[in-house]
Amino acid sequence: MAELLQGWKRTHYCAEPTVDEVGKEMVLMGWAGTWRNLGSLIFIGLRDRTGTMQVTFNESELPKEVFEKAETIRSEYVIAVKGVLARRDEKMVNRNMKTGELELIAKELKILGVSETPPFYIDDNVNAAEQLRLKYRYLDLRRPCMQANMLMRSKITKVAHEYFAEQGFIEIETPTLCKSTPEGARDYLVPSRVQPGKFYALPQSPQIFKQLLMLSGFDRYMQIARCYRDEDLRADRQPEFTQIDLEMSFVEQDDVMNVQEGFIKRLMKETLDVDIQLPLPRITWQEAMDRYGSDKPDTRFGLEFVNVSDIVKDCGFGAFADAVKGGGSVRCINVEGGVEHFTRKQIDAFGDLVKTYRAKGLAWLSMKPEGIQCSFAKFLTEDQIKAILERANAKTGDILFFVADAKDTVVYQALGALRLELGRRLGLMDDTKFNFLWVIEFPQFEWSEEDGRYYAMHHPFTSPMDEDLDLLDTDQGKVRAKAYDIVLNGNEIGGGSIRIHSPEVQEKMFEKLGFTKEEAWERFGFLMGAFKYGTPPHGGLAYGLDRLAMLITRASSIRDVIAFPKVQTASCLMSGCPDVVEQAQLEELHIETVADKE
Ligand code: AMO
Ligand code: AMP
Repeated sequence: MAELLQGWKRTHYCAEPTVDEVGKEMVLMGWAGTWRNLGSLIFIGLRDRTGTMQVTFNESELPKEVFEKAETIRSEYVIAVKGVLARRDEKMVNRNMKTGELELIAKELKILGVSETPPFYIDDNVNAAEQLRLKYRYLDLRRPCMQANMLMRSKITKVAHEYFAEQGFIEIETPTLCKSTPEGARDYLVPSRVQPGKFYALPQSPQIFKQLLMLSGFDRYMQIARCYRDEDLRADRQPEFTQIDLEMSFVEQDDVMNVQEGFIKRLMKETLDVDIQLPLPRITWQEAMDRYGSDKPDTRFGLEFVNVSDIVKDCGFGAFADAVKGGGSVRCINVEGGVEHFTRKQIDAFGDLVKTYRAKGLAWLSMKPEGIQCSFAKFLTEDQIKAILERANAKTGDILFFVADAKDTVVYQALGALRLELGRRLGLMDDTKFNFLWVIEFPQFEWSEEDGRYYAMHHPFTSPMDEDLDLLDTDQGKVRAKAYDIVLNGNEIGGGSIRIHSPEVQEKMFEKLGFTKEEAWERFGFLMGAFKYGTPPHGGLAYGLDRLAMLITRASSIRDVIAFPKVQTASCLMSGCPDVVEQAQLEELHIETVADKE
């Protein structure tokens, strides 16, 4: 039976007491993590969010009923202990624990809550499957590493609130029942009860609202904003996620970036005590693709691409020559000293990897001490091979991997994925490094083969670069945008842009994205109409808070920094949502599901 507090007050968190307080009487409350019963001695590892304190019940020093009660304590019981802080015997000291020199000698005990045997052991080295942990998330969250993750996440938002407030940003909340806005993903829809057949969309981001707030004169806006996107989930993607969302008026790209750099520096100092050098490196999108095959390059290691297209364009190897003639390229990565790392079998596995990115194959050249081994040597002249080796700086012991394709995007993607795999296997992803960088000059549009049309690469409110405005009508695919992403160790942690603030350019942008004038006004009329009433130049950025927290805590998935995350199927294993609802609820919402009809 659970007891009441009856006036007991907690004096300390479990891991708070220090050796200076030895001899003091105190009251600790928490969960019994570990318990050991040695007959006349009972040891409990009493745990709360600060850590663990060893509590000792000694039969010879306690009233009978207190000791007997202590004997009933099991894992995850919630208890309150009144006792005296003591130093442990020298041989009992645990140097790996913050309170490892201390113990609380129990005098009185209350059992505040009993627990059934938990489905898994509450410990950082838990071996339960993630599925089980997510089903019992409230227990999983008790684990010290999960507690540390949530505390760190809280610290990140605290720094964000403080820093941006100091910089004059105003926090304003925007609606989550909205009109559908195009951010590239599918919307989550909410049916309207009072207007049959009509739907709200949950915001993919507060984008339009924050722009309107600039128009309303708030000048600098900030919000920790929940966003919803119905897309396929990955380790760094959730259907609902959180942004640190920002917008500024009367600014150009550099102004926005400078404010963000101040935030990054402060954030890394206050969370991990890491000093970040400013300004952060900047690289254009084109350069990022050419060197790393990615618009979010991991620059903790090299393995940069080498373009050998000009050398092989007329060579006898069809895969190479045809790729260049077809408008694409041939690029390689030189893995210094790679010969000793990779077997033939491994190289074949790399071939399979690049094929999953639509590459037709992976060619290789191995600088063995006994001579060159190469998958395509017979098709190339000695001079051509020599030129490649020179360009790639290849020495004995190195191994070169090549991908050729008539589409550059295939080369970028396939070789980019191989680069990351090589980095992983060679242990080059040093988790003590925090390599931030800006990727700038993104293309304005992205061509979709599938749909046969252009999409906005960032979003339709992003301004083209001034020098590319004329290309809108002549060579749309070449237009670059005033868009910038901030990247950390190969992860896109934030993105933003300078916005279009002229109604004419905005209208033109919609036209270039394939909306008729009527469609554009129907969807975005409230924004374009607003633009007619005096719009300041403005721009902003949004961070993915979950991703930031994942990287700062070095978690392997954003699920580990979200209290109640969703899994692959966008469901919550704990509460069991999404779920069916009462027929009456559906009727009220004027909804008939296909399942009803079948
Ligand atoms: P964007 O779509 O690039 O920009 O989103 C900003 C940042 O949010 C994070 N992010 C996600 N995190 C977890 N799960 C997801 N499904 C997910 N999708 C995005 C990423 C990304 O960099 N309104 C614009 C910002 C602007 O222009 O100011 C926007 O939403 O870290
Ligand atoms: P093949 O003549 O098709 O056997 O190819 C010879 C070598 O070139 C093999 O190692 C293939 O994996 C590789 N290869 C084939 N097509 C490509 C390509 N598009 N890019 C890179 N390597 C390729």
